[in-house]
Amino acid sequence: MLAALAGEVRQRPPFWLMRQAGRYLPEYRELRAKAGSFLDLCYNPDFAVEVTLQPLRRYDMDAAILFSDILVVPHALGQPLAFLEGEGPKLDPVRSVEDLKRLSRDRFHERLEPVYETVRRLSAAIPQHTTLIGFAGAPWTIACYMVEGAGSKEYAHVKRWAYGDPDGFAKLIDLLVETTADYLCTQIDAGAETVQLFDSWAGVLPPDAFRRWVIEPTRRIVALVKAKHPTVPVIGFPRGAGLCYQDYVADSGVDAVGLDTTVPPVWAARNLQTRLPVQGNLDPIMLAVGGEALREAAWGILDALAGRPFIFNLGHGVIQTTPPEHVAELARLIKAWPDRS
Ligand code: CP3
Repeated sequence: MLAALAGEVRQRPPFWLMRQAGRYLPEYRELRAKAGSFLDLCYNPDFAVEVTLQPLRRYDMDAAILFSDILVVPHALGQPLAFLEGEGPKLDPVRSVEDLKRLSRDRFHERLEPVYETVRRLSAAIPQHTTLIGFAGAPWTIACYMVEGAGSKEYAHVKRWAYGDPDGFAKLIDLLVETTADYLCTQIDAGAETVQLFDSWAGVLPPDAFRRWVIEPTRRIVALVKAKHPTVPVIGFPRGAGLCYQDYVADSGVDAVGLDTTVPPVWAARNLQTRLPVQGNLDPIMLAVGGEALREAAWGILDALAGRPFIFNLGHGVIQTTPPEHVAELARLIKAWPDRS
């Protein structure tokens, strides 16, 4: 994985999967029931380490991703957060500069200490050939959750603030740029070998707003991380960026880019992979479907991208209804490639 991030091409590409640990695995569901809530799982290093290792034992991925969630950052800034069964995250929304007074950096690292402890323990526990990935949400996506207070279809509240009072909204983004860079640097100090910035809602913005709220904050975070850790690669995942992918790659400073499901692999090979390593982008539903469709789709991606620096992944996270044996089959297909068997 680190070789691929450094621009090397080996016999077969490395692979890992977003949400490789999670509810599709029976051993995850068992531990999750023991932990109580999802956040209890995230903040208990014994459990979080175990859950991180579960997919590696089954499938020997080339990378382990720290088990946590992107929303621990607003939580550590003092914004109340709960994950309600079947409903996803709920936060007390912040929608104005006045509301920002409810946030504080005072106990930021103290509250995130269980995450750092998880990274330290993982760094010692994972196999030598496995890369440890740290992560955070990118400021725009975190702001989406902080302002909407939950997932959303339209993102009307956050857009209204960003478009109507850009200088006020910039105060929230600035806070997130600084704390996120700090958070990633501390994960690296604890043993993370690369970090990924998840910008799951990058694709909802028009181009000028994309530059200001996706590319610029990412560029600043990358610069802050590089100032302390110049050799640690940063992977950006601006999901849904569409026609803005090229600007993101040219201007954000990331070392590698995650492709969502909609990006044509052959286009990415010509227009992005000539500049940096790419990661992606099998449709998670294809993994849930399995069989011949999965095989053809995986081979198509490998044929288009594996001749240049490439990390095989999905275009978004593993979904809950994925049969674990389909993940085993995908791991086998990638390890056998270019042999079509
Ligand atoms: O990839 C991994 O295996 C590492 C762990 C990880 C989780 N979430 C665990 C999780 C990572 C990297 C994330 C990132 C994350 N979290 C994102 C960015 C990626 C993406 O999916 O777009 C986002 C937007 C979140 C916020 C979030 N967390 C939502 C909207 C939800 C609820 C939706 C759902 O699937 O239930 C979560 C919960 C969550 N995060 C679960 C897991 C395993 C399910 C929790 C459970 O066990 O009930």
